[in-house]
Amino acid sequence: MKRREFIVGAAATGGAIIGTRRTSAVRNWLSLMPTTAAAADTRIEILTGEPIGVIAPEIYGHFVEHLGGVVYDGIWVGENSKIPNVGGLRKSLIDALKKTKPGLVRWPGGCFADSYDWRDGVGPRAKRPRHTNFWRDAAEWPKDTPDGPWKYETNQFGTSDFLRFCKLTGGEPYIAANLRSLSAKDFYQWVEYCNSPAGTTTPADARAADGEREPFKVRYWGIGNESWGCGGNFTPEEYAGEYRRFTAWVPNFGMRLAFVGSGPNGGDLDWTRRFFTKLNERRALGAMWGWALHHYSWNVSGGRTTDWRQGKGDALNYPDDEWYELLSQADLMDSLINNHWNVMGEIDRTHRVKLVVDEWGSWYKPGTEVDNTHLLGQQSTMRDALLAGLTLDTFHRHAEKVGAANIAQLVNCLQSLFIAHEDKFALTPTYHVFDMYAQHQKANSVRTVISSPASSYMRNAQPATMRSLNGSASLQGKAMTLTVTNADLKNSREAEISVRGATIKAVRGSNLAASDIHAHNTFADPRRVEPKEIAVTQIRNPLVYSFPPASVTRLDIELV
Ligand code: AHR
Repeated sequence: MKRREFIVGAAATGGAIIGTRRTSAVRNWLSLMPTTAAAADTRIEILTGEPIGVIAPEIYGHFVEHLGGVVYDGIWVGENSKIPNVGGLRKSLIDALKKTKPGLVRWPGGCFADSYDWRDGVGPRAKRPRHTNFWRDAAEWPKDTPDGPWKYETNQFGTSDFLRFCKLTGGEPYIAANLRSLSAKDFYQWVEYCNSPAGTTTPADARAADGEREPFKVRYWGIGNESWGCGGNFTPEEYAGEYRRFTAWVPNFGMRLAFVGSGPNGGDLDWTRRFFTKLNERRALGAMWGWALHHYSWNVSGGRTTDWRQGKGDALNYPDDEWYELLSQADLMDSLINNHWNVMGEIDRTHRVKLVVDEWGSWYKPGTEVDNTHLLGQQSTMRDALLAGLTLDTFHRHAEKVGAANIAQLVNCLQSLFIAHEDKFALTPTYHVFDMYAQHQKANSVRTVISSPASSYMRNAQPATMRSLNGSASLQGKAMTLTVTNADLKNSREAEISVRGATIKAVRGSNLAASDIHAHNTFADPRRVEPKEIAVTQIRNPLVYSFPPASVTRLDIELV
């Protein structure tokens, strides 16, 4: 089964050390490693004179869909809950997310968006209608899941709740309009609800009655979702027509609205080329700020199948080859960005439109969700931490192309930052990567060249390789951040790190690693995987640093 068909229907083992002389700390670390590290087998060159572009904070975005346990149980616990909350919103999640400086927060879907009427989530909660949730009939539901808001949407969480959540966490709202089952007029009136000045329109009055007199000033609007699949099963030409109709003459209340088109599924360049060509026939490229790309890492079969269900693996129990297969899929992001960008440039010659990777992450088979109401819920291990770091580094290296991105999804669904059920709550390894990497935001990405030995593994009895080290560097004044993932399961990579065109004054950092590559956090053991500070000894240029196997590292390099 193909994805399109589906849609239509640490306890860290320690850090390493900087400098050329090995201290006892390093010897201790090396003695823990399964194999001996090769000496300086890797070179990292950071070219401070070759800026790529400013890393948009919007890249650090999240995704909140009315799906399984994301909204109900994850974020929304209700105003009368004993679970600590801020007006019904889970407080522990707000506090933790805020710390990571979230970028765009996308809502209400996903596929759910094209079935959602925003009016259902407005007005007194007791009077809000109940409707069948888009995901009710999904084949992936765990056994014996009872009926509830996850199957029959109760609309207790609506637009004003989502926008309050954004305000409380510091995230920037990004709302996906319903293009498949509502009209353009309904979309305009949703914009009115969010943005029209107090007292000017009936939707503004409804907003005031919901407790929010002043406009929310929502800038980012998605025009449908996966319009090639659950969002209407359109051809690119049909969708281009709909896109023009939806984006023409939207009331803007003095703001420059940023519209995002529903882009391709992975490598579907045909969708991108044909949509851009059709849109440009009416010179409508100016009505688009971003072009959405979705890319999930899911197929760990090593080429045995492309079946959407058969190809998936388990989130917790995986052999070594599945580790490499999944991370290799994530590494495809690099070529996906380049390929779509090049096709967009054939028509959008000055590259006015940015890429918005508004769904990315790992997708495993069901079975590790923390509650049976959490459709598509899964655990997040060290493998997911690597996937997150590798992907964020890829976005940084394409800072001039990627305007925003959203990992799927925030809590209790796919590659989440949090798991939550009733009063239980834990941060995942993926959360820690977002936290470690946050300081890249607004910094200038600079060209970083990494050469290191590839990692070898057996892929269906055939030898295969993937690049072991992946990373990016950014500069903000004299503060440089270098982040690196080492995907190799057995070998540390001792690297010479040269910062070209600058002198190093001081270095510190943090590292996420675990003695067991399957390590993850649970409600019973919520701090099993956590970053550790890195000890720094000798400062010189080039630095020497040994990246532990299966780890994510951030080095904070202070320049003179
Ligand atoms: O994130 C889960 C689903 O995956 C989204 O609803 C949809 O857009 C995608 O196919």
